[in-house]
Amino acid sequence: MAPNLDPYNREITYLRVSVTDRCNLQCVYCMPIQDLKLLDHSNILSYEEILEVIRMGVDLGVRKVRLTGGEPLLRSNFVNFVESVNRIPKIEDMSLTTNGVLLQDMAEPLFEAGLRRINVSLDTLDPLKYRKITRRDSFDAVWKGLQVAEAVGFSPIKVNVVAIRGLNDDELRQFAHLSMQRPFHVRFIEYMPIGQNSNWGPEKHISSDEIRSKLETLGSLHKIPHAIHDGPAERYRFESAAGEIGFISAMSHHFCPSCNRLRLTADGRLRPCLFADDEVDIKSTLRNGGGQEDLKEVFQEAIARKPRRHHAEILVRGQSARPMSTIGG
Ligand code: 5AD
Ligand code: SF4
Repeated sequence: MAPNLDPYNREITYLRVSVTDRCNLQCVYCMPIQDLKLLDHSNILSYEEILEVIRMGVDLGVRKVRLTGGEPLLRSNFVNFVESVNRIPKIEDMSLTTNGVLLQDMAEPLFEAGLRRINVSLDTLDPLKYRKITRRDSFDAVWKGLQVAEAVGFSPIKVNVVAIRGLNDDELRQFAHLSMQRPFHVRFIEYMPIGQNSNWGPEKHISSDEIRSKLETLGSLHKIPHAIHDGPAERYRFESAAGEIGFISAMSHHFCPSCNRLRLTADGRLRPCLFADDEVDIKSTLRNGGGQEDLKEVFQEAIARKPRRHHAEILVRGQSARPMSTIGG
């Protein structure tokens, strides 16, 4: 049996790595204003420890790694770390999720370190609304960061938009335009009930189907077939557009049957499913002098604990104890 098969015969080939729980934004749906407990630095895995976990994953069959946070660009020496991840043989796909605030200055060094693909979270194209959502005035910085990333040569550049009714569903025309004029992949992500303090409410959920039919009133959307490292996004393109439109429908269309991922939290836990608080501690093994066999065992334990599907419901809030910023989006 392949060492990375879970109990439902899914091959685990994708590791999402959160390098920090810190963030320079405070998005209303992610970060609680009060009671935000930051991890003690001693509990955050060192880069060397993270690399050890990634190498173990790769030995077992991981081929795709995404670096995320909190905001990964906040962590010191991040560019060197990216370089080290890039040097691990057999990784076919390395990517980064960032809020883009620090991208202007970091896009070029990151590209030089071997990174080619980035996802930038940007839920609105309106600077005032941006301040409302993120509680910071950083729209211009992110916007410039996107331009620099494009100029430096990143491709694809994905723009992740969490779709929230009453917040950004009046901007579909602007997002459609963006995907037509620029080579960006604009991806609408269904709002998920993660984290106890999230601003979640079922009335704020909009399904991808609803967004798609609204977008279709602006022009015809052509479906793009799935490519190998695509993940769960359904891809479309407006006629002769430079970029794309994508939909990630974690709530309305379960993609659990094809789930291939495991998450590593900043504090050294392997999390089998985004929506379930079950986690396997790999930090203790790393710090108690565990050898390769022990690490392998813990990694495989996390694979074995992947649930068949998530049970997150649109009507129930707070289906994870941790805020998204500590799990990694
Ligand atoms: N639902 C959907 N997406 C979320 N993100 C954070 N919290 C949620 C949520 N409750 C997204 C961010 C970013 C990525 C890291 O995860 O907007 O795009
Ligand atoms: Fe930071 Fe991302 Fe959470 Fe916003 S969603 S507060 S950018 S970690």
